[in-house]
Amino acid sequence: MQTSTYLWPGTVHFGFGAAGLVGQESQARGATSAFIIVDPGVMKAGLLDVVLDSLYAVNVIFSIYDKVVPNPDVESVQLAAKAYRESKAHILIGVGGGSALDMAKAVKLMVGGPASATVWDYATRLGDDRRPYPPASKMPTTIAIPTTAGTGAEVTPWAVITRGEDQLKFGVGDATTFPDVALVDPTLTLTLPPFLTAATGMDALSHLIEAYVSTNHNPLLDPMIVYGIELVARSLRPAVAHGNNPQARADMMQASLIGGIAISSKWLGACHSLAHPLSGLAGVHHGLACGLMLPHQMAYSLPGALARYAAVADALRGESVKGGVRERALAAVTAVTDLLQDIALPTRLRDVGVTEDLIPALAKAAITDLNWWTNPRTVSEEVMAALYEAAL
Ligand SMILES: [Fe+2]
Repeated sequence: MQTSTYLWPGTVHFGFGAAGLVGQESQARGATSAFIIVDPGVMKAGLLDVVLDSLYAVNVIFSIYDKVVPNPDVESVQLAAKAYRESKAHILIGVGGGSALDMAKAVKLMVGGPASATVWDYATRLGDDRRPYPPASKMPTTIAIPTTAGTGAEVTPWAVITRGEDQLKFGVGDATTFPDVALVDPTLTLTLPPFLTAATGMDALSHLIEAYVSTNHNPLLDPMIVYGIELVARSLRPAVAHGNNPQARADMMQASLIGGIAISSKWLGACHSLAHPLSGLAGVHHGLACGLMLPHQMAYSLPGALARYAAVADALRGESVKGGVRERALAAVTAVTDLLQDIALPTRLRDVGVTEDLIPALAKAAITDLNWWTNPRTVSEEVMAALYEAAL
């Protein structure tokens, strides 16, 4: 029997009001001083207030670090780690979307190691062993509070970082770098605008589908992933159409959470390998990039996982799709395309400014991205280029 390996997150509080538990959780871990990494837009929107009030209530002092950039780069992580060290805080709190939480996890890792190291030193590289990580006991306790429903970064161990000189996206992280606590509060997404709701929602769906068809064997997660796909099918449209819909927001937050847990153990696929260069080289939002590439990656990958894609179709359609297994698997692709249209996201690369002459560089970068390793059908640089062409 094949061995299955599961990586589970730390303590997770889910539900309306969960963010207000940050003071209690900090205090329970012996912290009297916190360092908060927060997305500046999130702070401007007033979403940090509940966090600060909760820390005030238990006399935990804090410093706020808001120099979070989209797609955090090596230098910005370096500066944040330096600021954390200088703050002498006992606990690290990340508040925001994927970029803020990735930065917090990268800082957690770096603070555990020597100040002379850079985050690139810990990069997981294709065909290259990464350097040993610092001991987990030296890393600061970390609390992650997501403000979008998509990345699931609050329950994954990785951070995706961009190398400035060539815009290469690379990952760092293993079982030691999970946030110790995740406070998953749908309240924080009630004011998220329609575009970001749609794009981050497609990130969550990509995680769920890619994990479900992954070649990495982790069967305990399968029923949970199917449930996550059903949640997206039921609630992404209403969350985009009317943001102040608590049930739709809670469903999407839960789908994102499930997606994060799923990819931590089952990993991803070629859709994410295709999406990362679109962000690095063409500035496309990560979730949007996933949405643009997902139907094409699915159509290509179908022969490797027909029965699984057929089950995805059932979950997306909310009923047992009729027909043979191939026909049902194809229905999953159509269902994703229909969803993209209904949530008003662009469906062609040319709609987001990508031109044909960029495809060779995109394909070259995509094949160096490790995520395709567990794709149900093998890929090559030529296949990556063909999938970008198909999406153009
Ligand atoms: Fe993603």
